[in-house]
Amino acid sequence: MRRRSAMARINNNYDKLSTGYLFPEVARRTKAFSESNPGVDIYKLGIGNTTLPLTPSVIEGLRKGVDKLADIKTYTGYGDEQGDSRLRKMIAGLYLRKYNVKIEENEIFVSDGAKPDSANIQSIFGSDGKIAVQDPAYPVYVDSNVIAGRTGPAEGSTYKGIVYMPCNEQNGFFPSVPREKVDLVYICSPNNPTGAVATKEQLSDFVDYARNNRAVIIFDAAYWSYISDPDLPRSIYEVEGARECAIEINSFSKSSGFTGVRLGWSVVPKTLVAEDASPGKINSLWNRRQTTMFNGASNIAQEGGIAALSDKGLEENQAIIDYYMENARIIRECLIEKGFKVFGGKNAPYLWVKTKDGMKSWDFFDKMLREAHVVVTPGSGFGPSGEGYFRVSAFGVRDNVVKAVQSIRDNLK
Ligand code: MLT
Repeated sequence: MRRRSAMARINNNYDKLSTGYLFPEVARRTKAFSESNPGVDIYKLGIGNTTLPLTPSVIEGLRKGVDKLADIKTYTGYGDEQGDSRLRKMIAGLYLRKYNVKIEENEIFVSDGAKPDSANIQSIFGSDGKIAVQDPAYPVYVDSNVIAGRTGPAEGSTYKGIVYMPCNEQNGFFPSVPREKVDLVYICSPNNPTGAVATKEQLSDFVDYARNNRAVIIFDAAYWSYISDPDLPRSIYEVEGARECAIEINSFSKSSGFTGVRLGWSVVPKTLVAEDASPGKINSLWNRRQTTMFNGASNIAQEGGIAALSDKGLEENQAIIDYYMENARIIRECLIEKGFKVFGGKNAPYLWVKTKDGMKSWDFFDKMLREAHVVVTPGSGFGPSGEGYFRVSAFGVRDNVVKAVQSIRDNLK
């Protein structure tokens, strides 16, 4: 018999989420300030959102994609859920050419960005698995696992059941491997939010840990094109043994300005194994997940991606990366001059800055907005170890960055 209580029920794991998603909260406070201070110019160095226009090669690629859709001879509807094979080949070629990493075309899954992939990837793993995250971390890793029921309730600024790997000044913002056994380990390098980049040795330790514990590393490489130091690894597959224990997620957002276009990819090696998965199994699970729940990235966006990975496209995008990194230099100089301790921002587009006198992150956020009219991102929004820090994004237009910096110099007390 149908009970009254058999009504549709919500996924009440959502109720465990302790706060709203970080960036909407930053936007809400900014809007409130703006409304009560009409006419005041606000300089946004908060969310890592690209600002420069797409390059000529990319625009040409996108136009080609549109033109193809306008002609019955070249029109395409649904494509392969895994992505256009020309693009998958180019991505494999990029790994080989730039980093000497061999990846098969059918290990690459093109997507609509790194954010959905980093949120969805957990769904192919056991729901009772234990996860470890860098602390601070991009909030999607934690929140997606909370929603999936892989954690207990919130306890202050952490969730029961998650292993937090503190990243702080003492360890150069890269953690040691967990002391206990976990199943999934999230690593982001170059790191969002700290801007720290893991060395090959540091990644090797995690690869050894994962292989010894039959854990899987979810490696977020979305900011890889910001690494200029030739000794630092761009891909986890530069480390011996990583193909057996790591999935790599990547994006066109920050390397080619596709934040609004939406395009990314994940590498799920056929050699990857887990406790109950022999080689090939996890690759086929992700294929099953994507073919069931995703209809492939936009064909127009993929034409843009093909253009972005051409020699000319890569060269043009490098100029944009250099521009953002010059922003990072300008911001760093100002903050150091103002007496702040600044980290990151050298091989990453984010600066990670310590507040003064132990001021709390959100208090500093409010102070910066009130006094200098500059929006930053409070470090505590990325995890408990982010408390007492703030993140500054270098993705602005130069004029805006220069004005922001001037305002900090003149007005921040
Ligand atoms: C950020 O500001 O952390 C990023 O823009 C978020 C994202 O890439 O989704």
